Formats: sequence, structure tokens, C-alpha cells
Amino acid sequence: MTNGRCVLPLVGLHSTALETALPVTSSSPSPSGSPDSSTRPKRVLVIHYSQSGQLDSVAEQIVAPLRADPALQVHEETLRPQTPFPFPWPFLRFFDAFPESAHMKPQPLAPLSLTGDEDFDLVILPYQVWFLAPSQPVTAFLTHPVAARLLAGKPVVTVIACRNMWLLAHEKLKGMLADAGARLIDNVVLTDPGPTLATFFTTPAWLIWGRKRGFWGMPDAGLSAEQIRGTARFGRALRDALHQGLERGTQPLLAGLGAVRADAKLLVSEKAGTRSFYLWGKLIMAAGRPGAWQRKPLLLMYVVFLIALIVTVVPVSLTLQALLRPLFRGWLTKMSAQFECPSGSATDRTPLYDD
Ligand SMILES: Cc1cc2nc3c(=O)[nH]c(=O)nc-3n(C[C@H](O)[C@H](O)[C@H](O)COP(=O)(O)O)c2cc1C
Repeated sequence: MTNGRCVLPLVGLHSTALETALPVTSSSPSPSGSPDSSTRPKRVLVIHYSQSGQLDSVAEQIVAPLRADPALQVHEETLRPQTPFPFPWPFLRFFDAFPESAHMKPQPLAPLSLTGDEDFDLVILPYQVWFLAPSQPVTAFLTHPVAARLLAGKPVVTVIACRNMWLLAHEKLKGMLADAGARLIDNVVLTDPGPTLATFFTTPAWLIWGRKRGFWGMPDAGLSAEQIRGTARFGRALRDALHQGLERGTQPLLAGLGAVRADAKLLVSEKAGTRSFYLWGKLIMAAGRPGAWQRKPLLLMYVVFLIALIVTVVPVSLTLQALLRPLFRGWLTKMSAQFECPSGSATDRTPLYDD
């Protein structure tokens, strides 16, 4: 997919956002008293949250070229849930996180170091997917009053690192960015390289038992070291784009770098999963708060239901989908291209920014 067919999402923009979206020659407004953005170093905000360190390693690769550049100032904000989520997760605690994740009612964060009065030229927002929605700490940040003040009118680059189901989570995240008046200019997606079916086993083994190494002939869980190292190209491209003031324009900064490859085949499963998480989540939340003993029997029932679904309905649905795929090829290609917006899957500029 090239970017020619992408329309940059401008939904929910306030007037400041439109001003910032103007061509490169216009400078973004600064709060009173702060130096104009054309006379001070460019400021980049990077949001951090990672349990295993995987998403932090990706963010580090992207941020390193920016941090090394004296013309840029990088502020790194680590999100800290008031009650930390465990890693690895105890079995039931893992599933106990799904109702609030799916309903985007996150556990609150400890106070941020940001006040909302800071003026950033670019925001980098790495996030992981939890139960087909943005992870709770990232959702808590985006719905925090400080985020609305920080993000209004600002260009945002999202970076997803997850197992492989991110399509609907990203739609939800786009909604939250739009509510904050932010301008999503790029999206980078990294998914675990193992086959989908294998990751149904290897990912829970990693998240619940801490076993990252593959077993029974299946590959290791998580991203490969090579995928993580490769993301440095996005940092180099962002550095160059900031030097040229391109973050104020309307075009993606990371086009041509193989930022995202979407697989709309997973949409059917994601929609079914989202519906089931939503309905069961509602029931479980009605039983009590996270951790309440009253939720446990329902959670156990849901786990049994989920396993039954994975061993019966999922294979039947995958076979049916494979048989019907030729009829829907055009639609799948169109949907995949839409989900790849705005950065696209083209790789023509990759040699410029690879090591
Ligand atoms: C509670 C929970 C739910 C998850 N749900 C999904 C999911 O729905 N789709 C997906 O692709 N990955 C899912 N993952 C995997 C994460 O997106 C991510 O790859 C992994 O947790 C590593 O992230 P980290 O950098 O925070 O350690 C889930 C992980 C956790 C902990």
C-alpha cells in the first residue's frame, strides 16, 4: 500500500490542530512566555510503558537517534499504574484484566511528571494491545486530563508491538486521539513473527509463566531481536523530518519504510473476540471490582468458554474463511490498505535509513 490512497485522519481537530496541520512554513503556537518553536530546539515527547521490556526496547531504538541530536530535546514519560500490573501474570489475574481493558476503564496512573502546559513538536506513543484494546496504562494516559492539554493539535506517531491482533485496538486508540484533538501522522506496527496458531500457545506461556523460549517446535514468543533493531530506521527518519519541519505538514513522516503490514483476515476474529470480551466483561464487572473474589467463578467459566471456542469454533471459522477468501479478496486488500494508513507498507525509502 502506498500513501497516495490514505487520507490523514483530521477528525476531532480543534483550531490549534488545524493551524499545526498547515504547511511547513507556519509555526505552531507557543504558550505565552515560552520561546517560539522556530527559535528553540524541537521538543519530542515519548511515552513509555512496558512490562517485559519489549516495547521499551522498541522505543529505545526509535528514540536513540533523536536523543543523540543536540538540536532535539527528548522528554521521556514513564507511565506508572497506581497499583502495578504483575509480570509474569498469575493465571486468573491475567484474565481479571480483560473486562476493564475491553471496556477501556483502566486502573488509574500515579501522578505524571507532566503538567499539560508543556509544548511538544512531536509525540511518540508506543503502546501494546491488551484484549484487543490499547493497554490499560496507555488508555489511562490518553483519557487523563493532562493528555488532552498536551496533545491538542500535536502530531502523534504511534508504535504498536503486540502478538498480532491490533486492528480494532488501533481504531479505539484513534478515537481517543481524536477526542484529545491530536493529529495521528504515523503508525508503526510490529507483530510477533511466529504463526498465529503457535502464538496462541507461546504468548500466554510467556505472559503467564514467563517462558519466552519456544517449545514443542514452536518459535520463541515476542518480537525477534532483528525486528527490534530494525526500528532504529524510524528514529533516523523522524530526526531528519524534524530538521525539515515536516511534522507540521499533513504527510506521514515514515512512509516508504515498511512501517506497517495489516492483515484484514484477522478482522473477523477480532470482531468476534471484541464482542465476547465486551459482553462477558460487562457481566464480570457487575460482579465486583478487579481482584474481587466474586469475579473468580465467572472468570473461570469464561476461560473454559474461551478454550472451548479456540478448539472448536476457531478452527471451523478459519477453515470457512479460507474457503470463502477468493470471494472476498478485493475487499480484504482494500481493508488491509485502509488499516495501513497513514504510514503504509511500501519500503522504497528503507535503504536510506537502514544501518
Ligand atoms: C493482559 C494482556 C492482554 C494481551 N492481549 C493481546 C491482544 O489482544 N492482542 C495482541 O496482539 N497481543 C496481546 N497481548 C500481548 C501484548 O500486546 C504485548 O505484545 C506483550 O504484553 C509484551 O508487551 P510489553 O512490552 O508490555 O512486555 C496481551 C498482553 C497482555 C499482558
